[in-house]
Amino acid sequence: MANPYQPIEAQILKTIDETPTIRTFVLKPEQDVPFLAGQFVELTVPGHGEAPFTPSSSHFERETIEVTIMKVGRATTALFGLKAGDSVGIRGPYGQRYPLESFEGKDIYLVGGGVGLAPLRSLFLSLVHEIDKYRRVFLRYGARTPEEIVYKYLIPQWEKLKKVDIDLSVDVGDKSWVRKVGVVTCLMDDIPCDETSSIAVVCGPPVMMKFVTFKLVDAGFKPENIYLSMETNMSCGLGQCGHCRLGPYFTCKDGPVLTWEQIKDIPEPFV
Ligand SMILES: Cc1cc2nc3c(=O)[nH]c(=O)nc-3n(C[C@H](O)[C@H](O)[C@H](O)COP(=O)(O)OP(=O)(O)OC[C@H]3O[C@@H](n4cnc5c(N)ncnc54)[C@H](O)[C@@H]3O)c2cc1C
Ligand code: FES
Repeated sequence: MANPYQPIEAQILKTIDETPTIRTFVLKPEQDVPFLAGQFVELTVPGHGEAPFTPSSSHFERETIEVTIMKVGRATTALFGLKAGDSVGIRGPYGQRYPLESFEGKDIYLVGGGVGLAPLRSLFLSLVHEIDKYRRVFLRYGARTPEEIVYKYLIPQWEKLKKVDIDLSVDVGDKSWVRKVGVVTCLMDDIPCDETSSIAVVCGPPVMMKFVTFKLVDAGFKPENIYLSMETNMSCGLGQCGHCRLGPYFTCKDGPVLTWEQIKDIPEPFV
């Protein structure tokens, strides 16, 4: 039987600097890695370790996989030392996909913070690929500063897409910034969709996820319609080691996306 921990090789075709600490890696795996939006992969830098990442590209793109990565520690620093032509290991996909069939005909309200826009981009691109299946797609995104916004060069193109509505904020603006200033919840005072039937999907730092969730609940979103990307610490990625336990769930196997209905009774789910 094949070793489930054995990665396959993926060549780095290109890197794109998004911010001073966030970089997109365009990878060409030697075999298809058939992920669907919501699932994640484990990337290995030989000699430096392994870490989980959610692809940031559309699941309809099968030739390459993009991952957008923030440099925080050992494995990610080693990844930043690689360049086009180098290779990494990749294994997966793991975890559960978004149940997109239950999103059909509805408004989808995406809320991202910081590098949390990376996993949301995979969902966003997969939704707009089949936009006629959905009512409208809203994207609300907050970063610390204009410089910290990921995909700056793509957002103007996304804003032109039909049935797509985007709004951005930064915690601290600069002279060039003409949009809102404040944490991402400042974009949520007037939610332009029917909260009782719409789907919300949130990804970002734990404190952002917490306050966005409370705001969505206050606005009337149903707990079962609020999807949260729970990026808890992981090790095996296969439901074997228990590192990723969140209440009764193993986020690597049952998540990483869980609904507020699933986790609302767990003490301190956002850590
Ligand atoms: C399902 C899943 C999807 C993810 N997707 C992305 C993604 O698309 N882009 C991205 O940049 N990151 C993503 N992450 C986070 C990423 O896995 C961590 O940043 C990475 O494991 C850090 O590895 P390291 O060896 O560089 O850091 P380490 O040396 O292990 O740790 C350095 C610092 O990072 C913190 N850290 C470690 N793991 C995590 C984690 N899971 N979440 C938050 N902080 C962590 C540690 O507490 C420590 O403070 C994801 C995590 C999960 C579980
Ligand atoms: S990471 Fe090992 S059980 Fe989830």
